[in-house]
Amino acid sequence: MSQTTITVLNADGSLCCSFAGVMWESLAQQANNHWANIPLACCAWACSVCACYVLEGRDNIDHELLGTQLTTLDTDDQICSCIAWIKPWNSWSIVIKKWR
Ligand code: FES
Repeated sequence: MSQTTITVLNADGSLCCSFAGVMWESLAQQANNHWANIPLACCAWACSVCACYVLEGRDNIDHELLGTQLTTLDTDDQICSCIAWIKPWNSWSIVIKKWR
């Protein structure tokens, strides 16, 4: 089992939540299980309402697991958290920041 710690910051940089990550749920699902309130709509990388900035651990996030990108994000340091998953079998630290 992964021992990833996921930290979610609010758009103003304040701490939203921090929790032990799991491999079988998207970052947005996991964060919302901890009251992060990341907006979700398509859950298919098509609308980008779930976009988050990755402040730490980008190499530890698989953001192409579920297919092809259908929308363009504003910057390269963003991911669509609805389809982003943590990579398995290691200990990671991932920090994301909500953009709204
Ligand atoms: S909810 Fe639409 S891209 Fe994530």
